[in-house]
Amino acid sequence: MNTSCFKLCCVCIFLSVSVCVNDTLKACKLDSLPLQTNFNITRYQGLWYGISVNRYYVPVATLSDIKIIYTSEANGITRIKSSGLVLNWWCQVDDGIGVVCDPEYPQKLYVSFSSWWGILQGERPYWVLRTDYTRYAVVYSCWRVTQDGSCDPDRTYIWTLSRRPTGHSQSELHEIYTALHSACIKADNLIPVIHSGYCNL
Ligand SMILES: *[C@@H]1O[C@H](CO)[C@@H](O)[C@H](O)[C@H]1NC(C)=O
Ligand SMILES: *[C@@H]1O[C@H](CO)[C@@H](O)[C@H](O)[C@H]1NC(C)=O
Repeated sequence: MNTSCFKLCCVCIFLSVSVCVNDTLKACKLDSLPLQTNFNITRYQGLWYGISVNRYYVPVATLSDIKIIYTSEANGITRIKSSGLVLNWWCQVDDGIGVVCDPEYPQKLYVSFSSWWGILQGERPYWVLRTDYTRYAVVYSCWRVTQDGSCDPDRTYIWTLSRRPTGHSQSELHEIYTALHSACIKADNLIPVIHSGYCNL
């Protein structure tokens, strides 16, 4: 376990013991967020297309063609290769690594990328909120924990992924919105990610 991963885990443990949980808002607290149960990274592997985001995680005006390939290795390590079209002309390909800190929570990864932007960002949580492995996935990432142990809404990041570039079906959307709602996340502002097929991975 690397040190920043260790620190993050400590913060989580600290929060879970120090926060006095109010049942009404329990689902909104990070330590009781209803994440994907029995998560199986082997089934999650392979190619995913980014379909929508609630906000851009890079300071650009447009972001399209997001594709990600996950490859699971031993010891809770997942290799990540991603590409995205930035500002309609630049295909940014990035290599990253996902680490599971606590084997009890395989759906909680901590991800870092090796590009300059990735190094600047450091390690970020990547929690699988919901997936059926074969159609869609909802990824949750909190970039700032508030004093009450929930996530600052302005620093809550959501990505929805699909195995197909064509987007989510109505039934997938229904499951996605249900998952977001159960985690107290407003889902009315998802920004679609356009797929032009311009960037290869
Ligand atoms: C829990 O939070 C809700 C909403 O903020 C509040 O109305 C309620 O009184 C709280 N309950 C307890 C037990 O603190
Ligand atoms: C995870 O999925 C793989 C591939 O379907 C399967 O072989 C394996 O048994 C699963 N692991 C668990 C713990 O269910």
